[in-house]
Amino acid sequence: MRRAQIVGTGSAVPGKVLTNFQLEKIVDTSDEWIRVRTGIRRRHIAEEGTTSATLAADAARKAMDDAGITPQEVDLILVATVTPDMAFPSTACLVQEMIGAINASAMDMSVGCSGFIYGLATADSFIFSSKYENILVIGVEILSRITDWTDRNTCVLFGDGAGAVVVRANNNGNKGIISTYTKSDGSLGKLLMLPGGGSKHPTSYQTVAQKMHYIKMQGHDLFKPAILSMVEATSYILEKSGLTSRDIDLLIPHQANIRIVEAVAKKLRVPMEKVYVNLDEYGNTSAASIPIALDEARRKGLIKTGDLVMMVAFGAGLTWGSVLVRF
Ligand code: UT7
Repeated sequence: MRRAQIVGTGSAVPGKVLTNFQLEKIVDTSDEWIRVRTGIRRRHIAEEGTTSATLAADAARKAMDDAGITPQEVDLILVATVTPDMAFPSTACLVQEMIGAINASAMDMSVGCSGFIYGLATADSFIFSSKYENILVIGVEILSRITDWTDRNTCVLFGDGAGAVVVRANNNGNKGIISTYTKSDGSLGKLLMLPGGGSKHPTSYQTVAQKMHYIKMQGHDLFKPAILSMVEATSYILEKSGLTSRDIDLLIPHQANIRIVEAVAKKLRVPMEKVYVNLDEYGNTSAASIPIALDEARRKGLIKTGDLVMMVAFGAGLTWGSVLVRF
């Protein structure tokens, strides 16, 4: 059976670190509140001059090196981001130029924190239909540029980074994506949005004065939907594939909040030893969180040949989804 196999991973995270203690000096918060409520200790912040496209290109180069392919072999570049360099051209096209993938098509996907999962699901379909052979799927965010650094409800949560994978057609064997699941509920979109700068509220002195160019999140109201939807997405795939949560070797959930991660693991009966967590170091990097975690887990030797890895995310839209992969 033809499958979409993940044959290379890479990530790029800015060197500059912002600790909870540094945040105590910026807003009325404490290291203890942030750690206890979210599990986050530090986050990485892009330096001036770094953009989503430059971070994404760095991650993509590493993933291509890992996969042993040249940029010319890439057929499609999918970039999941809510922080594109600009409205257009797409960040994917900027990345294409930076890495020299002259034979590729390129497009962005705006799916919030579920973007990488939707990217993998899209890549899976393009490969299954024999349209393409090699696809770069990238999740990248520079959330620090759309964060209101006076709003303690949000500014303690987010960070910057990029992760990329090369997905290649595998015509023999059972390695690769086994199943994908994606779902949305636009009726709850108002819980997490960036209202300014689009056709509804074009940028003006007024939108800037009203801080409409920053993330607005009703975090408390997202807490339960985040848990329930990630459990739903994981359970759906397991059932469809005739598997149980005991078959999962590694669960890589979106890294928004350790309490959400632990609740999802508990409901699925997956022990925390099998759950990859790095949000203490990076905070919530939205579409980049899962590919960064996947790359780290592979480099630490936590994913062996034959392992079943479940990735699951939830985010703005609202959107959620999961991907099950045999490595
Ligand atoms: O990425 C995918 C989409 N996003 C999510 O999945 C986020 C889901 N939500 C969350 O992770 C959590 O709801 C948060 C971390 C955002 C908030 O945690 P919470 O336990 O739901 O806290 P809360 O919003 O109910 O706020 C509790 C209190 C409030 O004070 P009062 O009203 O009880 O006096 C807040 O004002 O904590 C206060 N608070 C803070 N205190 C110190 C809010 N932010 C801070 C802060 N430092 N940074």
